[in-house]
Amino acid sequence: MTHQELRTLWTSFWEKKAHKLVSPAPLVLQNDPTTLFTSSGMQPLIPYLNGEAHPLGKKLYNIQLCFRAVDIDEVGNNRHTTFFEMMGNWSLGDYFKEEQLGWIWEFFTQELKLPKEKLYVSVFEGEGEVFADHESVKIWKKLGVADDHIHFYGSDKNWWSRSGPPNKMPVGEIGGPDSEVFYDFGEDLKIHENSPFKEKECHPNCDCGRFLEIGNSVFIQYKKSANGSLTELPQKNVDYGGGLERILAAVNNDPDIFKTDVFSSIIRIIEVETGISYDKSEKKAEMRVIADHMKAAVFMIVSGVIPSNKEQGYMLRRLLRRAAIKTRSVSGDLPVKLFISVGNAVLTIYDGYDGINKKEQETLVASVISNEMNKFSQSLDNGLKYFNKYEKVDEKIAFDLFQNFGFPFEVTQELVEEKGYSLDPTRFNEHYESHKNQSRTASAGTFKGGLADQSEQVLKYHTATHLLHQALRDVLGPSVRQEGSNITGERLRFDFFVDKKPDTDAFKKVEQIINEKIAEKLSVECKILPKKEAEKIGALYFFKEKYGDEVKVYFVGDYSKEFCGGPHVQNTGEIGSIKITKVKKIGSNLMRIYAQ
Ligand code: GLY
Repeated sequence: MTHQELRTLWTSFWEKKAHKLVSPAPLVLQNDPTTLFTSSGMQPLIPYLNGEAHPLGKKLYNIQLCFRAVDIDEVGNNRHTTFFEMMGNWSLGDYFKEEQLGWIWEFFTQELKLPKEKLYVSVFEGEGEVFADHESVKIWKKLGVADDHIHFYGSDKNWWSRSGPPNKMPVGEIGGPDSEVFYDFGEDLKIHENSPFKEKECHPNCDCGRFLEIGNSVFIQYKKSANGSLTELPQKNVDYGGGLERILAAVNNDPDIFKTDVFSSIIRIIEVETGISYDKSEKKAEMRVIADHMKAAVFMIVSGVIPSNKEQGYMLRRLLRRAAIKTRSVSGDLPVKLFISVGNAVLTIYDGYDGINKKEQETLVASVISNEMNKFSQSLDNGLKYFNKYEKVDEKIAFDLFQNFGFPFEVTQELVEEKGYSLDPTRFNEHYESHKNQSRTASAGTFKGGLADQSEQVLKYHTATHLLHQALRDVLGPSVRQEGSNITGERLRFDFFVDKKPDTDAFKKVEQIINEKIAEKLSVECKILPKKEAEKIGALYFFKEKYGDEVKVYFVGDYSKEFCGGPHVQNTGEIGSIKITKVKKIGSNLMRIYAQ
C-alpha cells in the first residue's frame, strides 16, 4: 500500500462515521511559548478538549505533520523517527471507549485487512487515584480480542499526556489512560532472538521491534490540578493518534518503516551516493538517521526555518549536523550533493501535500542545506582533530566542541559511544547553563571576552577587533597593547596602551588596513596550541587574562594571530566594512576606539 492510499482510506473512513476534517496545525509553531513544533494531533485542540465548543462540532479527524525531538536518540531502529504523520480522530465530549475501540478495530481489521491474530492491545493497569481500565478490556474481548492478546501496563506505557505520566504532568496539563494496538511481525522473523533483549521475555512493549505500536486511543478525562492531584475534566474526550509510517509498515508486513514508500526513495539515494547497500551493510542505523533527519529538516526549511543557534533554527542545525556526522561515518565523506539529492527526494515524495511545492521550494531547500553543510564541513575537521586529541572526552570538552566547532551534544555522544563510553547530558547542560550565565553577565559588559552575546553582528565586530589590534600595531608600533574590549550588536569598543601620541592621520590608516583585510576575505581559523608554542609564534595576548597550559589561537589569514576564546566569523568578507567612529584619550598613554 502507498501512503496516498492509506491517507485516502483514513479520510473516507471518518467521513463515513460523520466526522469533520479539522485542518492540521503548522509543523513549526510561531509565538507559542510552550513548544517549538507540533508534536501530536491533539496539540491544536487543547482548548476544545478542555471544554470549549469547536466550530466544526464534536467529532473530528485529520492527519497532522509532527516533530518529536524527544525521540531523537531512538532514531536508527526499525520504527522511530523524529518526523512523522499522525493520523488522528477525536471525540470532544461525544462518544467514548465503546465506539472508539470498535471503530479503530474496524479500521485495522476491515479497511486495512490486518489479520486479527497479529493484533495485540494494551490497557492501563491502574495507579494512584485512577483505576485499572477493565471497561476497555471488556470492549476488546467483545470485539474478539483473545485474552492472551490483551496486556496491562502502568502509567509509563499506558498513560498519555504531552508530558508523560501523571507525575510528570505540569499543573493544567490534560491527559488520561490509553489503550494501544500493536502489530506482531511474528516469531518466525526471529527479531526478538536477534535483539539485545533476547534474555528477557518478549511482549508488546518489548523494545526488540517484533511488536509495533500502530495506534493509541487516549481517554483524555483528567487535568493536573495545583495540589498535584488529577481532577476530572468537564467532558470525557477521545484523542486517537496512529503513525502513518508505522501503519503502512504493518499493512506491508515489513517491520522496517524505512522500507515504506515515504522513505524508500530517500534510502535509495543514500545507497547510490555512498555506494553502500542498505540491506547488506552494518550502517543501516546511520542511513535511517540520515533519512529521518533530512526529511524533518526539509519540512522545517519549507516552513521558513533557517539554521541558527536558537530555538527552531538550532533544532534544524542539529538535525543537519547529525545527518552530516552519520554520512561521514557511512561514506567517510560529506558529499553536499547527497544532501541536496535527499532534499529533492523528500520534496518529490510529498509534492503537493501539506505545504510542499517542489518546483517552488527546491532552490531554497538546496541552498539552505548546502550552506549549512559547507559551514559544518569547515569546522568538522578542526573539531574532530580537537576530539581526537583526548584519550577520554568529558562533558567539558563536549561543551568546547559545541561552543567552538558547532558539534551538537549528541554528535559528540555518538562519537564517544563508538569508543565504548558515554557522556552525561545533565553535566553537559551544567556547562551550557554556566556559559549562559556568563553570557548574561556579558550583557552587563563584564564578560571577559567582552562580547555582549553571540549574534552574527557581535561575531563580525569580534573578528574586526582582531584586525584592529594588529592594524594599530602596524601603524603605531609594537608598544600597542590591548587593555580591554567590549562588543555589542551596535558597535565595538577597544581600549589600548600606546607609548606615543598618534599622528592625526594614524586612525585613517588603521581603518584603511582593516577594510583592506576585509576585502581580502581572509579565512578565520582556530588552533589549540600549547601556550609556549603560541607565544613562540608571536600570537598576541591580553596580558590581563590568565591562560592555561593550552590556549586557543585565532588566525585571521596570516595577518593576525591572537589568544582568544572566540567565537568569530569564518571569513573576514562577512564583516562588510568598518568605520572608526570615535577615538578618545582615556588615561595616560591609554586610548579608546569606537567603530561600527
Ligand atoms: N495523542 C496521542 C498520541 O500521541 O499517542
